[in-house]
Amino acid sequence: MSELLDPMHRRHIEALNVVKPGARTLEVGCGNGSFSAWLAERVSPGGEAVAVDLDLSLIEVRAPNLELRQGDIVAGPVERGSFDLVTARAVLHHVADAKTAIKNLVASLRPGGALLLIEPDFLPVSVAEPPDVRAFWQGWLEWARERGVDYQIGRTLAPRLAGLGLIEIGGSAETAIYNGGSPWANYWTQTITELRVI
Ligand SMILES: C[S@@+](CC[C@H](N)C(=O)[O-])C[C@H]1O[C@@H](n2cnc3c(N)ncnc32)[C@H](O)[C@@H]1O
Repeated sequence: MSELLDPMHRRHIEALNVVKPGARTLEVGCGNGSFSAWLAERVSPGGEAVAVDLDLSLIEVRAPNLELRQGDIVAGPVERGSFDLVTARAVLHHVADAKTAIKNLVASLRPGGALLLIEPDFLPVSVAEPPDVRAFWQGWLEWARERGVDYQIGRTLAPRLAGLGLIEIGGSAETAIYNGGSPWANYWTQTITELRVI
């Protein structure tokens, strides 16, 4: 996931223009930590990147100004009013109480800080071609829904943030179009294969 999504995540962060030397950043649901390691580089010298996940066992990175913390974003804010940037990618759709999680992410922002959420919205699969592929995705969405995974959360983020009083809210959507053998196809093949084994 980090190979597929880090470049897009970096592009959005650059556009926000808040990650500078001396800044403090927070990534929640950091997975293998690759993105927080990049943030740590970008806030050097003088800044700090904090990376939080329920499970730190996949972390592959270390840096002097990268602090790794085990934690659950539903349990409370990581630190109130402390971060210039708070970000989470591909996390909230797995969280049963996304409302509380988002409230806690917002509470960790400094006044004037920026929040960047990157989450899926599988709307495009409803028009995928050919029909066999569309049927696969329909089955996938039903399977996920039964397990509490919300692949339609993307469309809800802007109104949720407006409801929490954030200003200057913006959003964009990107749809990957790919063939068999591509990195995205390999990602899905590996995901389905692993789930089949479980
Ligand atoms: C699909 S992975 C995405 C990892 C990484 N953000 C990426 O995009 O490569 C979701 C991550 O969120 C973490 N996570 C799920 N629920 C969480 C929670 N309530 N608090 C903190 N982390 C959570 C999981 O442990 C997992 O590492």
